[in-house]
Amino acid sequence: MSERQKIGVLGATGSVGCNVLDLINSQPERFEIEYLTGGKNVDLLIHQARTYCPKYVVIQDESKFSILKDALSSLPIEIHAGDQAIADITTIKTDRVVASIVGVAGLRPILNAIPHTKIIAIANKEPLVAAGSLVMEKAAQHGTKILPVDSEHNAIFQVFEEHNRAYIKRIVLTASGGPFRTWSKEKIAAATIQDSLKHPNWTMGQKISVDSATLVNKSLELIEAHHLFSMSQDKIDIVIHPQSIIHSLVEYEDGSYLAQLGAADMRTPLAYALSWPHRMQTSGARLDLLSSPALTFEDVDHEKFPSVNLARKCLKAGQAACIAFNAANEVAVDAFLNERIGFRDILPIIEKALQNQNVMPLSDLESILEQDRSVRAAAQSYIV
Ligand SMILES: NC(=O)c1ccc[n+]([C@@H]2O[C@H](COP(=O)([O-])OP(=O)(O)OC[C@H]3O[C@@H](n4cnc5c(N)ncnc54)[C@H](OP(=O)(O)O)[C@@H]3O)[C@@H](O)[C@H]2O)c1
Repeated sequence: MSERQKIGVLGATGSVGCNVLDLINSQPERFEIEYLTGGKNVDLLIHQARTYCPKYVVIQDESKFSILKDALSSLPIEIHAGDQAIADITTIKTDRVVASIVGVAGLRPILNAIPHTKIIAIANKEPLVAAGSLVMEKAAQHGTKILPVDSEHNAIFQVFEEHNRAYIKRIVLTASGGPFRTWSKEKIAAATIQDSLKHPNWTMGQKISVDSATLVNKSLELIEAHHLFSMSQDKIDIVIHPQSIIHSLVEYEDGSYLAQLGAADMRTPLAYALSWPHRMQTSGARLDLLSSPALTFEDVDHEKFPSVNLARKCLKAGQAACIAFNAANEVAVDAFLNERIGFRDILPIIEKALQNQNVMPLSDLESILEQDRSVRAAAQSYIV
């Protein structure tokens, strides 16, 4: 039997992180965990550490360090805390890292991990939106494979024939349309937190669920696809497919569409990202073709959901605009989830941040993070 793969999981306590651990748990002969990181959820991190006994556990929230350390004191696990500790842990050598922190907070750990691992399975889309070129260039420099986990990008990855790149007419990202697809503009404006978190097909973390409701998620995915597949945005289309059965498509010049289909279960793309170039069995949900609903497609309603066109403008404007789009959205979604603003305020905050940002030269990680911080501060000031 071949050696077990050494895995690092960033954001283990989140929705994606728990699905990764579920898959790893199903095939312990195939994987061993080097490190797990969490944000604030110390109870879950303790439970995960006891279950998987990784070599290292890191919690971002330093105030939870002693709880974590005391709870795991009888186990041979090294414990650390803080942002820097999360960035540092990724310099431990692994075979694969799953990047599933939410937000741009995952950028430094991803960049740090690149020289120390063979494959990075990226669910954490915000770092690609803010710094896609930097991530992809560093990965190419070190020969590290970037494997998309987002179901749409994972689907494209599965059907994207690199040797036929010249014959790729376009990539088509599918979108469920979110919980407000059939709502009127007026009703959407008054949507509550609970309404926004009720995704019709997927169970996910809070931030991405709100992003799906505004369609900012699809907008971030457009920028993500541009970087992951090195495709210009005029060759990336978005189509609403409410059943979320076709996870995305590639159209070739000969008229063929290649698509990946499956149930709406993140364990399918995650299994592919954990086992590529092979496959693995999962206990995830299965698509039953005979009982599946009819597949339908619609255009995006840009009047109700202006974020997609805004993201297209950002891609045209350049990296600073993409950083601002993402940073202002992170601030606005957090404010919405904390009942400081209404759903209708999210897009105007992003628009205002884009109009008012001071663009600094973006030469490296520090300047990107500085730009991100300055947009966040401005976006915070729009929230009274
Ligand atoms: N959920 C999905 O099905 C899905 C699908 C496609 C792509 N994605 C992408 O994958 C990423 C994770 O999504 P999710 O839904 O799993 O989010 P989530 O459930 O909110 O989990 C986020 C994870 O990141 C940790 N975290 C939060 N802030 C952090 C910080 N500042 N530093 C370090 N760790 C931090 C959280 O820790 P605590 O919970 O312990 O605080 C948790 O482990 C997002 O970028 C999302 O867009 C998710």
